[in-house]
Amino acid sequence: MKALVLSGGSGTRLRPFTHTTPKQLVPVANKPVLYYVLEDIARAGITDVGIVVGETADEIRKAVGNGERFGLRVTYLPQEAPLGLAHAVLIARDYLGDDDFVMYLGDNFVAGGIAGLVERFRHERPDVQIMLTRVSDPSCFGVAETAPGGRVISLQEKPAFPRSDMAVVGIYFFTPVVHKAVRAISPSARGELEITDALQWLLDGPYDVRSTTIAGYWKDTGNPADMLEMNRLVLDGMEQGTEGEADASSELVGRVRIEAGARILNSRIVGPAVIGPGTLVENSYVGPYTSIAENCRIVDSEIEFSIVLGDSRLTGTGRVQRSLIGRNVTVTPAPRVPACVRLILGDDSRVEFT
Ligand code: DAU
Repeated sequence: MKALVLSGGSGTRLRPFTHTTPKQLVPVANKPVLYYVLEDIARAGITDVGIVVGETADEIRKAVGNGERFGLRVTYLPQEAPLGLAHAVLIARDYLGDDDFVMYLGDNFVAGGIAGLVERFRHERPDVQIMLTRVSDPSCFGVAETAPGGRVISLQEKPAFPRSDMAVVGIYFFTPVVHKAVRAISPSARGELEITDALQWLLDGPYDVRSTTIAGYWKDTGNPADMLEMNRLVLDGMEQGTEGEADASSELVGRVRIEAGARILNSRIVGPAVIGPGTLVENSYVGPYTSIAENCRIVDSEIEFSIVLGDSRLTGTGRVQRSLIGRNVTVTPAPRVPACVRLILGDDSRVEFT
């Protein structure tokens, strides 16, 4: 069995981070989302992985390399444009050959992982196995209409009027019949070859398309609230550890990870939280569900339920909450006279203050 990981697309949907980072490389708890995907695949005993790449191919290649460090053999499959998930299957035809495969969207995350599902698919081997999950905003997903026993009757891609709240998770188990389906369909109104249409084609034919409902979390990281939620879930499963240093006047409470070269001086860190390599936290409070990346300086500040990316500096802030702070950002108080707020904000920024 192989894996097909989709990391193409232009990555413009996830603001603010994707101005500089493909969305599959956005760090969650200081690790790119894509790494969780690759680790999950490796844990499921799959070693051959094709990664579909687009505009951001160079950055993805740089981050993943040949896959050795994940115990994987990675082959890159360039896609000329993001022409749809089914198009990605189409271009991967030679790579996949006649093997079964799991298609895993490079920005999806499942708590608990896929190992058990892979095992079950190998054993039962239906033509296709998909996963469904209940969501509050079905019109942002592929949506399944199911019969009372759970059998999928129909699928629709991002319907304006969803027939259910069961979304299709971005992890699909396929046997080679999917290749017939992706060749049979035409582009949708938005110009993409939709995997949802390929699945519908299989549902309409004599094929065994099964679905499992997963209770465990999964989320496409499509917006800032999702990012914070995913950060929360990853930190909930994180192990604590102190490779960096905390001085005697600091207090680490609960599951806290202090990475190599990080220094905690006269501060209180309440987990789950992770402080990245080379970061300094001084005279500050870092609260639960916070990920601070590498080489930041958090001085005389308070922050919780937030993500801070690398090389950023917070000095003398009041309590910062539920915030996403990008790379190389500076947050400091304005000079006291005149009393004012001074802002230097990039495109699409958003500031909330009292
Ligand atoms: O996340 C689950 C959802 O994923 C499903 O419920 C939908 O049915 C499915 O269409 C898909 O919707 P999204 O709008 O979330 O897909 P998105 O365009 O964001 O692409 C998902 C990943 O696949 C992302 O990492 C980029 C990559 N991709 C996407 C396209 C369209 C490619 O590599 N090539 C492509 O052509």
